[in-house]
Amino acid sequence: KAMKIIFRARNVDETLKFFSTYFRTVLAMDVVVDADQLPETTKNEVISFFESAPPLKGVAEIEKSLKEFVDRNASSSVNGRANRVVCVTSGGTTVPLEKLCVRYIDNFSSGHRGAASTEYFLKVGYSVVFLYRRGTCQPFCSSLPDDPLLDCFSVSNDSNIEVDALHAEIVKRAITENRAAVAEGILLKLPFTTIFEYLQILQLISVSLRDLGPSAIFFLAAAVSDFYVPWESMNLHKIQSASGPLDMRLAQVPKMLSVLRNEWAPMAFHISFKLETDKHILLAKADMALKKYKMHMVIANELSTRKEEVIVVTEHEKVTVRRDSIRAGAEVERPLVELVVDRHSAYVKKLDA
Ligand code: PMT
Repeated sequence: KAMKIIFRARNVDETLKFFSTYFRTVLAMDVVVDADQLPETTKNEVISFFESAPPLKGVAEIEKSLKEFVDRNASSSVNGRANRVVCVTSGGTTVPLEKLCVRYIDNFSSGHRGAASTEYFLKVGYSVVFLYRRGTCQPFCSSLPDDPLLDCFSVSNDSNIEVDALHAEIVKRAITENRAAVAEGILLKLPFTTIFEYLQILQLISVSLRDLGPSAIFFLAAAVSDFYVPWESMNLHKIQSASGPLDMRLAQVPKMLSVLRNEWAPMAFHISFKLETDKHILLAKADMALKKYKMHMVIANELSTRKEEVIVVTEHEKVTVRRDSIRAGAEVERPLVELVVDRHSAYVKKLDA
């Protein structure tokens, strides 16, 4: 029998501990932690954001693929993995300026952080939902040249297409490892372009992963727009330059971290990122995000050094994680993911105790 519990509380962690202690024997539980923690204004902003968003295309297929993914990964007996799942978000969201979009505002992110982290999570036994911006870096492809199609292949005399010897190993690895992970059902890739698609799909993912409770991680490396043009006030056609300078008012995108943490997936382990260009304000901003959004971890990075080091900020510590500069090709994401996995395991253990 399914049981629906609506519980009002100020402290989400205590509530979760209560549930995991007393309800471990319940077979199916749909817990709605109505934490009453979101200010009324945030709730209204969130509602109006989703109500005004254009309908998401392919919802039924996305829901179906998420269901299959969760069914496959919810129990370690199915695929021999430890039922640990992470949602990695990657790349920047766009903000369209016209409904029939010609122009848009973009957020910086190559998607390298998300793609590389996905590979390391897969390596250590996690299954990954990879929510990525179309056209950005993909897992297993970081060693490929910028234009793999033109740089890695040649047409031979008999018109066959061949991989150049120089790139054969990396092309083989990219194809086989990516296909194996997708075919095995441990890597689910979901693309987005706009801020609307990103947040709509993130909501679908979090609701789907909710039953996994503390076994799920949200690793939010995507660069998310802070401002947007509400759909109903957006021009249908291309904005005409003949009308003179453009004067446009952008609405604020509600900080979905609060909603994700408190309502969509309250039992999961939440990691957000803080990107700054001024290193003097970076740690203070990361600390603020940790407290304000009740994140379990905030990963602070500075634009110019983001590939060399990041600082992991939690309630109790600040750990600088560096790329191993002596090893050729070493990436900062490897030790970063190791640290995340260690702290996530401690979180799961604490809730189980
Ligand atoms: O992709 P790369 O080129 O490898 O670069 C990686 C990165 C620098 C993009 C990545 O490491 C990173 O820092 N990503 C987060 C950048 C960002 O959007 O920072 P922010 O300060 O704007 O947002 C902080 C957090 O709030 C983010 O986790 C974001 O998902 C979240 N957010 C932001 C806006 C919003 N309206 N709602 C949100 O929930």
